Formats: sequence, structure tokens, C-alpha cells
Amino acid sequence: MEGLTKSFGSQNIWRDVTLTLPAGEVSALLGPSGTGKSVFLKTLIGLLHPEQGSVIIDGTDITKCSAKELYEIRKLFGVLFQDGALFGSMSLYDNIAFPLREHTKKKENEIREIVMEKIDLVGLAGAEDKLPGEISGGMRKRAGLARALVLDPQIILCDEPDSGLDPVRTAYISQLLIDINAQIDATILIVTHNINIARTIPDNIGMLFRKELVMFGPREQLLTSEQPVVKQFLSGDRFGPIGMSEEKDEAVAAAEAAMQAAGISGGGTKDDFSEIIPQVQPNPGMPERKAVARHRARVMEMLHTLPPNAQEAIRRSMEEEDRLRAEAHAHAQETVAVGAGAVAAGGRGGDEWTSAEAPGGDYDANAFDGNEYTGSDAPTQNWSAPQADNAATEPIHTGDYAPPHDGRGR
Ligand SMILES: Nc1ncnc2c1ncn2[C@@H]1O[C@H](COP(=O)(O)OP(=O)(O)O)[C@@H](O)[C@H]1O
Ligand SMILES: [Mg+2]
Repeated sequence: MEGLTKSFGSQNIWRDVTLTLPAGEVSALLGPSGTGKSVFLKTLIGLLHPEQGSVIIDGTDITKCSAKELYEIRKLFGVLFQDGALFGSMSLYDNIAFPLREHTKKKENEIREIVMEKIDLVGLAGAEDKLPGEISGGMRKRAGLARALVLDPQIILCDEPDSGLDPVRTAYISQLLIDINAQIDATILIVTHNINIARTIPDNIGMLFRKELVMFGPREQLLTSEQPVVKQFLSGDRFGPIGMSEEKDEAVAAAEAAMQAAGISGGGTKDDFSEIIPQVQPNPGMPERKAVARHRARVMEMLHTLPPNAQEAIRRSMEEEDRLRAEAHAHAQETVAVGAGAVAAGGRGGDEWTSAEAPGGDYDANAFDGNEYTGSDAPTQNWSAPQADNAATEPIHTGDYAPPHDGRGR
């Protein structure tokens, strides 16, 4: 995104926003409600048109390309809209199948396999015949995510994936995004104001405030930032430049400064910001995230520009992350050993898969060590098939669900 400016009539939403989403990494865009995060996301996929600037995707400026080119480029995207944006008159199954029917020539039995796998992945098995109006907001959200994933998109945009979800489901969805990133190296942008997600999931964080992109950079930079807006937002405190309305008026700011001086709490977390919370790691058994090395190289390059205490925190967090990754790896090895034993002893037959069968075939085979994993070990490892378009990419799960859609003309 280069010099992007968006207004509705005389109302300017944001101006001169320039940033590059690092390919294959997870980024988060933060900002108080109403700062135009959803507008930003819609501008990224060409649903809204900016007054100025360009959005360049794989070398094509989508603000200037033809409708036909835009249609093609959109196939790279999977988008979870803030409200789920499901078709109200279609079942969840049909909603999730929609992009496959619209954009591919897959047969209904292939479509069913993909749809049911994604439904399983987001924890909606059994709800596929429901209409969006018959389920909770959180379930609609998860259905929206399943739909966003069916085309195995290279770029995934999620508008507040956590809104309407309880903390546990939020943790599952966040883990899912990290695992997907590990598996297909997708570029992911999460729009959120969930502080916990912001601090533990993305590789990079950006923040919109008062019509501008205040900052965009590696998580380490933002999480140690002394920038008052960033600091206040990440700690969720009342005291600071962000107010109830977009612009905090001076009287309120002065009153709050006095309260703060008197030791009154602004309600935010009292976490120690000199430490960086470790980032969530892929589930054991997942390939290593290719993003990690690239990201770290970038951080190391900019390290000398950061304040000494930030540098120190970053070095500590890198050591900590290396330790966590090594632990996860060791755990995966152990689990594999145990899992293989269980299968030999008559465990869940038919569920295990090997790197030879790994969907898409473009995974780093070494990451799988040629070992078998059992389907029951990790909730998300049956996520399948980047660009699954050939016979070698049979869905991993076979016979796990009874086909519920027989006899209904699909
Ligand atoms: N289609 C539209 N037409 C006019 N104004 C809009 C439209 N979409 C969003 N806005 C306005 O843009 C501003 C930012 O909205 P939004 O992107 O939804 O904020 P956020 O997602 O950060 O909470 C709001 O003031 C909203 O009213
Ligand atoms: Mg929004």
C-alpha cells in the first residue's frame, strides 16, 4: 500500500497510509473503533476505491487494473468480514461451498470433501445445514472463516476474528491462523482490537489512529514502543491520548493526568512492558514457520535503531522463542513415537498420514521427518491442500464424517 487516502464525501477516514505486508508473515492492524480498519481491509481487496495511492498485489495495482484482472487477483484472497457476511438464505454448507462453486470447476463430491474438512477445522461439524440466522454470532464468524479458507488463499484477511467469540474459541482461531501460516506460508492480516491477539499472534503490528498509520513494524518494535498511543492501546488503559471519542479533549486529559498522579488505576494491564510476551507457536507436528527466519533477519537489521532496553528485551525474547520452538519440536517427536505405538496397537486406524501424502506436496518434507502423525494428536493438522488440484492431494480425512448431503441434489 502506497500513499493511500480514503474519504467518504467530505469525511476523511485515513490519509497517506504506506505499508508493505511482509509476504508469508502474520500482521495485525490495530486501532480504536471507527478509525477505518474495516475500510482499510475493503480497500485492500478493491471493494472500496481510494482517492489517492495504490495497492500493489503481486505487481498489479488493483486501484487501476481492469475488472477482469481484479476478479483474478481476488482469487488469491480469503476474507473473513467483520460480520461474517454470509448469505442469509443459504445453509452454512452452501455458504462455505460458494467460492468453490463460483471459482473452480470442482465436482460436488470434491467440493463436499473440502467443505466438510473446513467445517471440521473451525469446529462447526453438525451445523452445516443451519441457516446463518439460526446460529450464534461466534458460529457465523467461524463459518465465515471456513469460507475464507476453501480456496486455500495465499492472502488471508480477517476482520476482528475474535469479535463475538469467547476467549477459548478465540485462542483456537488464533492458533489455526498460526498453523495455516506454518503450513502454506500464507500472508495474513488480522484486524483486531483484541490486545491478547495483538501481543501473541502477529509477526508485525500496525496501528491506525487519528486518520494516520502511527506505526507499522515487527511485533518486537511495537511491543517495546514508548509511543504513548501504542503503549496505551496495548495495555488497554483509560489514561493516554486515546479517549472515549476519537479526540480526547484537554479537560478530560488533564483530569485523568491528575487521577493517574494520585495513583488511581486506568484499568489497563499492569504487565511489564520491558518484556515481550512469547509469540504463539504452531502446534507440535506442524512444519516450522518459514516466516520466522525472514522476520528475524529484518528485526536484526533494525535492532541498532531501537532504544537499548528494547534491544535487550528483543534479544531475551528471541532466546525464549528458540527455547519454546525446541520444546515444541521435542514434544512433536515424543508424540509421534507415542502415536505410532497407538496405531500399531489398534488405535485410530485410517487417520494417520505421512509426508508422502501431505497435501499439495510443496511442504518441506524434512519438517515432517517422514513420520506418521495421528489425527487425534493435533486438532488442526487435518487442514489440507494448498492449491489442491491434483490427484495426489486427496483430503486427509476419509470416512470421518457421514456425508450429510446425499439426496439433496448436490
Ligand atoms: N460505505 C461507507 N460509506 C460511508 N461511510 C463509511 C462507509 N463505511 C465506513 N464508513 C465510515 O468510515 C469510518 C470507519 O469505519 P470502519 O472502517 O468500520 O471502522 P473500524 O473498522 O476501525 O471500527 C466510520 O466513521 C464509518 O462510519
Ligand atoms: Mg471494523
